[in-house]
Amino acid sequence: MLAIENLRVVYHDVISVLNGISLDVNEGEILIIIGANGAGKTTLLRSVAGMIDFYDGDIIEGDIKMEGSSIKGLDAADIMKRYGLTYVMEDRPVFWYLTIEENLGAASFSRWDKHVKTDMEEVYEYFAVLRSLRNKRAGYASGGEQQMLAIGMALMTKPKILLLDEPSLGLAPLITEELFSIIKKLNESGITIVLVEQNANAALNIGIRGYVIETGRIVLDGKAVDLLKNEDVREFYLGSGEKERKSYKDAKRYKRRKRWL
Ligand SMILES: Nc1ncnc2c1ncn2[C@@H]1O[C@H](COP(=O)(O)OP(=O)(O)O)[C@@H](O)[C@H]1O
Ligand SMILES: [Mg+2]
Repeated sequence: MLAIENLRVVYHDVISVLNGISLDVNEGEILIIIGANGAGKTTLLRSVAGMIDFYDGDIIEGDIKMEGSSIKGLDAADIMKRYGLTYVMEDRPVFWYLTIEENLGAASFSRWDKHVKTDMEEVYEYFAVLRSLRNKRAGYASGGEQQMLAIGMALMTKPKILLLDEPSLGLAPLITEELFSIIKKLNESGITIVLVEQNANAALNIGIRGYVIETGRIVLDGKAVDLLKNEDVREFYLGSGEKERKSYKDAKRYKRRKRWL
């Protein structure tokens, strides 16, 4: 469905951030992309969504294809309208001074049809909490509620493929669990999902396949179940590997030493 071919991206002409990334997204799947802070995950999504130029970034090599045709260089609104690709940016971009319902209404800007009310109902079916808060200003909503709203707004564009940028960031584990189970339901309703996460455990548990990126390169890929079992993934992203335990012990020793001082 979506193919990224040898993508190289620089910021301000000189800062090289993606160094030749290739990956495929199959229709109907949940694809997980994990990587540490600064690995280039957001840059990848910005590039795909046609937003990299807003950040003074450039695709200097490679291509991005949706259903076989290149979308490189198309503008974000075009990519959304023509290909049904919608990007939910990190940091929960919602309009703070509008109510939850007004936010959903604003997000339907790209539509000409008259089904906005029905679609809002559909969003409320997925996110019951948004229905109960519909007349509350988004700025007063919690982080989890704002993330649900951001995804709800994306749903108002009737996406075929949703790119989600670290939706679990800063959320309590229970809220993350709820959010991810809704993401899974969205996928089951037919929306292809690309989920970028640092929370590797939660993400790989709902994902089908995954890629690991480090400093703008793919270092590992495979089925989500296999990545969950992979030693390096466990060590660096799940914090349960052998080395992690060693460093935990080191930390305890350090504390003891400090107490003596
Ligand atoms: N607009 C920008 N201008 C310059 N450097 C940027 C810009 N945006 C991101 N970067 C740099 O690109 C690298 C990758 O960032 P990003 O794609 O946000 O990574 P991630 O989402 O994996 O944390 C980081 O070193 C970051 O500082
Ligand atoms: Mg990011």
